[in-house]
Amino acid sequence: MITIRKPDDFHVHARNSYLLTRVWPHTAKVFGRALVMPNTDPLILNSEDAKRYYHQIVTVDDSCEPLMTLYLTNNTTPNMIGEAFRAGVIAGKVYPVGVTTGSDKGVRNFNAMKPVFEAMEELGMVICFHGELPGVNVIEAEKAFLDILHGIATEHPQTKIVLEHVTTADAVDFVIDHHNVAATITAHHLVMTVDDWAGRPHNFCKPVAKFERDRARLLEAAGGGHKFFLGSDSAPHPTSHKEAPVCAAGCYTAPVLLPLLTQIFMDEFGTEVALEQFASVRGAEWYGLPLNEGEVTLVEDPWEVPNCYDGIVPFMAGETINWKVES
Ligand code: DOR
Ligand code: ZN
Repeated sequence: MITIRKPDDFHVHARNSYLLTRVWPHTAKVFGRALVMPNTDPLILNSEDAKRYYHQIVTVDDSCEPLMTLYLTNNTTPNMIGEAFRAGVIAGKVYPVGVTTGSDKGVRNFNAMKPVFEAMEELGMVICFHGELPGVNVIEAEKAFLDILHGIATEHPQTKIVLEHVTTADAVDFVIDHHNVAATITAHHLVMTVDDWAGRPHNFCKPVAKFERDRARLLEAAGGGHKFFLGSDSAPHPTSHKEAPVCAAGCYTAPVLLPLLTQIFMDEFGTEVALEQFASVRGAEWYGLPLNEGEVTLVEDPWEVPNCYDGIVPFMAGETINWKVES
């Protein structure tokens, strides 16, 4: 049995409408706070959208505090940033156009974002980046994006930047080398490499999992003491969108997240200390939030992950996880 401080998930796709009602309770049951992504349909483009979305989420389950984000585009203005900040939005998300689900309206021109980034820098709002360069193949797209991010990070040295769901050893090195850049790491990128998603639509996500040397480096970073923290990128899609000729990107990890992370960390490090730092401490510190008050206990009690939750296939479906959240 292990007990850790109540964790936060600093990157989750809570969706809306029916999906929201099915997926959010999995996150809310375990996590104190969750940074909810704005690539919903419709997108969260301004403060009004964010306020409305916040209410939709807490109406489903208010036991977890949704932390709100804004979807940044080349039409976002500094004024919209100010309004969003006053409405409680804590971060803006940059999706380079076309790189993943819901990125069609994303950023085309990074230079043109300068006034928006300056406004965020002044207000202390975090800029979160989906770090893939459009037009580059899935294996090299993250590494190729690091040049752009280097320019932005050095031009806005006071801005807190999060490089989301890092998948490469190059990105880990980049984060360590830039004082104002931190990174989230998902559970699925700690266990998968290319062979796990090739031909397996439920394991296909963006950025794709890379090679063993990358996975090993991510695990080392997650367990180390340095600016890396949990952002699950739990991204549910209806089965019909996953098992399709062109498969939607996203792994639905919310129902298995903390048990899976516990298994990964206990197997690798043999103690819950590193897990607690990764899931409950470093993210809150980066965002300047107080640590959660409560605790979560997990027990070693193997269970088989169901094939489906409300029509959505979870990550690790049919496989055994050795840890369980004590109810
Ligand atoms: O795999 C992914 N799914 N990566 C993303 O960046 C977006 C997400 C989604 O919204 O489905
Ligand atoms: Zn995401």
